[in-house]
Order: sequence, then C-alpha cells, then structure tokens
Amino acid sequence: MALALLVLALLGALPGAQVLRTITFYSSWMNEQRLYKLDVSWPKLPEYFTGQTFCVGVDPISDLVYVAQRGVNVPKVLVFSENGDFRQAWNSTVEMPHGIFVASNGTDSSVWITDVGNGKYGHTVKQYSTSGKPVQTLGTPGKPGSALIPLQFDQPAEIFVDQNGDIYIVDGDGGLNNRLLKLTSDFKVMWLRAENGTGAAQFRIPHSVTVDSVGRVWVADRANKRIQVFDKVTGEWLGAWSSCFKEDGPYSVRLTPNEKYLIVAQLNINRVSILAAPPVGSIGDSQATFGNKKKISS
Ligand SMILES: *[C@@H]1O[C@H](CO)[C@@H](O)[C@H](O)[C@H]1NC(C)=O
Ligand SMILES: *[C@@H]1O[C@H](CO)[C@@H](O)[C@H](O)[C@H]1NC(C)=O
Ligand SMILES: *[C@@H]1O[C@H](CO)[C@@H](O)[C@H](O)[C@H]1NC(C)=O
Repeated sequence: MALALLVLALLGALPGAQVLRTITFYSSWMNEQRLYKLDVSWPKLPEYFTGQTFCVGVDPISDLVYVAQRGVNVPKVLVFSENGDFRQAWNSTVEMPHGIFVASNGTDSSVWITDVGNGKYGHTVKQYSTSGKPVQTLGTPGKPGSALIPLQFDQPAEIFVDQNGDIYIVDGDGGLNNRLLKLTSDFKVMWLRAENGTGAAQFRIPHSVTVDSVGRVWVADRANKRIQVFDKVTGEWLGAWSSCFKEDGPYSVRLTPNEKYLIVAQLNINRVSILAAPPVGSIGDSQATFGNKKKISS
C-alpha cells in the first residue's frame, strides 16, 4: 500500500505526465538498502486518470485505494483495489478536491475530502460513504471565511481522522486562514493554532497534516518551508524542521506504516524525500539532528 501511495504522489506532482520511469528510493544512512521501487504496473489501466490526479487515500480495512482528480467532465473519485483493478468512480458533490482521507473505526469506513473549489460546493470538508453518498459537510459551502461558529474554511487543504474519530484539519490553501484545528467526532473545536506568521506555531499556508501513534501532529507549513509538530492532546508546539526544505516548501507529509520515516513531497522541485522520524517526543529544532534525505533520481 505504501508503494501505491508513492506512485500516486508522483503522478500528482507531474500533472498530465505519464510516469513510466523506474525510480528507486534509498535511505542515505542504510546506503544500499532499497526502501521503495516504482511499480509501473499499478494501476493496471492508467487511462482511468483522465484529470489531474491530486490526492490519494487508502482504506486499511478493505485495502481499497481512493484517488481524487480535478478537471472538467472527469469523474472526481476513482476507486482501485490494492492490486490495481479499477472498481468504481463517483462524483457526488466533489468540486475541486485537494485532500482525501479514508477514516475507519475498525468496522466502518468513510471517505473525507477537502474541497477548495470556488463554486457552490467549495470551501468545505466533506464526508462520503465509500460508494460516494454524501454524509456530512463541514464549513459553509461556497463561502470562504474564518468563523468557528458556524464553521467556515478558506480552501481547506487536508484532513486527518484518528481512530477515536477526532479530526485534524489544516486550513488552508487560500491564504486567508493559517490554522490547524482539532475537532471532536461531533465537530466541536477542541483546540486550534491559528496565527499567521513565521514564528513557532504560526503558519503560512498549512498544507498537509498527519498524526502518529505517539500523539504528534505533523503539519507541512508550506510557505514557511518547514514541518511543524504539535502535541495532539494539548496542541502544544513540539518543534520544527526547516533545514532540508530550503529549496521548496513541503507540500505533503505522510508516515510509513511502521512510522520510522516521514515521506515528504515538494512539488516545484519534483522531489519526494524520506526522512527518519524520531520515535517519541520533541523532534528537535532542526531536521539535521535526525533526518536523512535522498533526492529521487529518475
Ligand atoms: C461523473 O462525471 C463524469 C464527467 O462528467 C461522467 O462521465 C460520469 O458519468 C459521472 N459519474 C457518475 C457516477 O456520476
Ligand atoms: C463505527 O461506526 C459505525 C457508524 O458510525 C458504527 O455503527 C459502529 O458501531 C462503529 N464501530 C466501532 C467499533 O466503533
Ligand atoms: C500574513 O502576514 C503577512 C506578513 O505580515 C501579510 O503580508 C499577510 O497579508 C498576512 N495574511 C493574512 C491573511 O492576514
């Protein structure tokens, strides 16, 4: 599954391009150990990608892979099996998808999408059944804003839902809001970090969010060219990494299933980096303390 995720991240980074090159990922400190290899045979029929692929989510229960794409007259969500067979497509109220996340409580799954469209469905974070039936809309469709009651977003970038149903949202991509929110499973704000700026715990275009199993929230703070980390219970700032993102800000941040590595995509330099993640607690001031990066050669 992690392999599929990387393949799609690359497709997303090169709009319109068919990625048919062999790209091998190595960790720099375990010199010759191969971590990932591009699987050019996944999915089996790449011609389903008729739009601009933007985001990918994996359902850990059913092993289905959800890919959202943008464009005019294209199906918005494509569903594939783990082995690359096309299963179905749905559109529903998806306007311009930016982030996708498959939430699961162990028995049931649902698909969350952040929608950055400027039409009547945009500026929202929406939950769908796995077959595309709308279940829940957060935000005020079609109206960008900063309110918390009722909730308003400005091009929300991504969502992460943990096993308890707690929700983490980075809002967003539009520039008006620069915030990380934690919501309860019934959509009440538990805490937020919402300052525009370059200091600790401030943001400029918070663009991607993921949460690890030891309670840390990792945020790609794109225009500040750094990753910031927060305590998931209190929202307390735990550190930032910036030294390895000087050339381009981080666009996307994910953890490998064993949580040993962060996988970070940088759009403008077409790079996916694999960084060693410290196991617990503070991440330190600088990525250089813990991290290793490897440029992808193709
Ligand atoms: C989704 O939209 C595309 C493009 O308009 C259309 O071809 C397709 O039939 C739609 N799919 C569904 C399931 O509505
Ligand atoms: C998961 O969510 C579904 C739908 O909300 C609910 O019916 C089910 O009981 C939940 N399962 C667990 C294990 O919490
Ligand atoms: C964020 O701060 C910068 C620098 O002070 C400013 O240029 C920008 O307009 C601010 N953004 C918002 C949405 O207030």
